[in-house]
Parts: sequence; C-alpha cells; structure tokens
Amino acid sequence: MQPPMTELLAADQDGIARAAELLRAGALVSFGTETVYGLGGDATNAQTVAGIFAAKNRPGFNPLICHYASAEAAFADVLADCRAHTVAEQFWPGPLTLVLPRLPSSQVALLTGAGLDSLAVRVPSHPVAHALLRRVGRPVAAPSANRSGRVSPTTAAHVIAELEGRIAAVLDSGPCRVGIESTVLDLSGAAPTLLRPGGVTLEDLEAVLGPVRIATADASADHAPRSPGMLTSHYAPTHAVRLDADRVSATEGLLAFGPPLPGTTSVFQLSAAGDTTEAAARLFEGLRHLDGIPDLTTIAVMPIPDAGLGRAINDRLRRAAAPR
Ligand code: TXA
Ligand code: MG
Repeated sequence: MQPPMTELLAADQDGIARAAELLRAGALVSFGTETVYGLGGDATNAQTVAGIFAAKNRPGFNPLICHYASAEAAFADVLADCRAHTVAEQFWPGPLTLVLPRLPSSQVALLTGAGLDSLAVRVPSHPVAHALLRRVGRPVAAPSANRSGRVSPTTAAHVIAELEGRIAAVLDSGPCRVGIESTVLDLSGAAPTLLRPGGVTLEDLEAVLGPVRIATADASADHAPRSPGMLTSHYAPTHAVRLDADRVSATEGLLAFGPPLPGTTSVFQLSAAGDTTEAAARLFEGLRHLDGIPDLTTIAVMPIPDAGLGRAINDRLRRAAAPR
C-alpha cells in the first residue's frame, strides 16, 4: 500500500484555512514558528496527541508544549501568577515557553503534558503560526517536527524529509528566523528555573525576574525529563503498580489491554482491540481513574507489547512501578 500523501500548503489564506481545518479534524499538520517547525495536533484530542508521539517515534512520553494565539488564551489553561504575566508582557509573542500549574478546568488532554500537574504554554511570534492558531481556536500541541533523535527542522523541506507520509500536511511558512527551540522557563515552583536554554537568553530573563536557577537535568534532550530530579515531578500513582499481571485480586484495579482478566470489578480498559495508539491516548486517564478508587491497594497492568507506542507506554509504566 502507498503511504498517504503529505500535502504541502502555501502560507496564504487558503493554505492557512486548510491547515486549520485539518487540525480541527484531529489530523497532524507541521507549521513553522520563529524557532523551528512544529509537528502540530489538537492538544485537547488525546488520540491525536498519541499520533504525534507515534509519528515522532518517541520511546517515551515527553511532555509537549501547547501553542496559543494570545497570552489570554494560554492563561486560560494554567495558573499564571504575576511573574508569568510580567515575562509574558515582555517576551510574548516570542521564543519563550512557560511551565505553569495546569488548571483543573483545562480541556488539554492529560497525555499532552505526559500526565504532569504542570503544562508548558507558548505564544509564537511567527505571523503564519499566529494566523493558524487564531483560526484553529484551540491549543495546538507541537514538539519539533523531527523524528526522535534527529535535529529540529527549520524549513518545510526538512519536515518533508523527516515526516513525509506520516502527517497530513506541512504549512510552508518559510525558513525559521531563530533556528533553535524556545527557552523553557519553569514558573510552577517558588524559584524561576531555566529548563532549556533557547531563543530568549538567561540575561534577558534575569533583567525582568531577578535571579533564575538553572536546572541540572538536561531538559532539552528528546528523552527528557529523565533524571531522577525531574522524574519526581511526574505524576506518580498513590496505589502500588504491578506490571505484566496475568491474574488480578479483588483489591486490585485492572488496567486492561485487550479482553480483561477476571477477578475485579475495577477495570479501566486502555484498548479493547489491543491498539497501542488508543492505549497511549488513555494511559494517564486510566492511571488517575484507578488511583482515585480508595478501596484499591494496587493497580495491576496487563502486558502491553513493547512495539510502536507500546515502548513509550511501558517506559512510563515502569517508572510508575519503580520503588519509591
Ligand atoms: O521552539 C519550540 O519550543 C518548538 C516549537 C515547535 O514551538 N517546540 C519544541 O517542543 O521544541 P519539544 O517537544 O521538542 O520540546 C519541549 C520541551 C521539552 O524539553 C520538554 O521536556 C519541556 O519542553 N516541557 C514540556 N512540558 C513540560 C512540563 N510540564 N514540565 C517540564 N518541562 C516540560
Ligand atoms: Mg525537540
């Protein structure tokens, strides 16, 4: 079978309208920003977000950045304090990403933030990206549009070379001006912390915020956050997690993959059909759901094949099951 064609769209009215229509329908569309090209998808659609990880071939779930047309739209999904408003006024739109506590009212899929309680938000300055985001009217999750372990693309041709046949379209917004990714600044804790250096310099940030801590973990790598320090910020279930379950007791909740094992009434089905993309879309919801049932002691997880998105799911589940 021929792989589906990737549409190359011009950055005019029609191209932007087509890209927005595809994004609203749950398809994957790459678009240029001032930093690098992003691999965009509707951040509120868990299935679409799972498709982003699948297209990138990522071995783990790295939290993704949500892109917005305005600071007002971004701050509807996160708790923005006065530090956040100050830097947003200075540097947005522009190459700065802010990590802030996620609001419970946010419609962004849990998978977008890899199950974290925080969310990374950014308002790009590229006029085509801005027009697209306005037209979509929803947060757009977009990691850099490269396959895992490769360099970030800065032209539409780079994106085609990386992802032809894996995504619906590329909106050709010209070469990227900055060429390196956005600066990631964590404002979810007491001390402002630089997670990734990028388009806005540390000096620029310190001029408005005062001293900024530099994270020791390399948050810029594709597999980040990986160091123990960053891992602790991951959502960890309160119940114990038991992997590769072939039976289940009454006090255990079952995270099922395919026909559920008998023995408990507390079952969350990741994918009845045994589809790893569907399972990825439901993983964090499932962990939170079973963790919220107080009578249970343990979350028992049925075996999930270690292929495709199954690798990312198993990576996350092994972390959840690790002794703590
Ligand atoms: O310039 C950019 O930021 C590009 C363009 C497309 O906007 N996007 C980009 O996305 O570089 P990505 O997925 O390749 O990098 C996202 C970075 C990762 O280092 C990730 O760990 C961090 O942001 N990140 C995202 N959400 C986070 C969170 N809740 N807490 C900590 N770090 C987070
Ligand atoms: Mg990247």
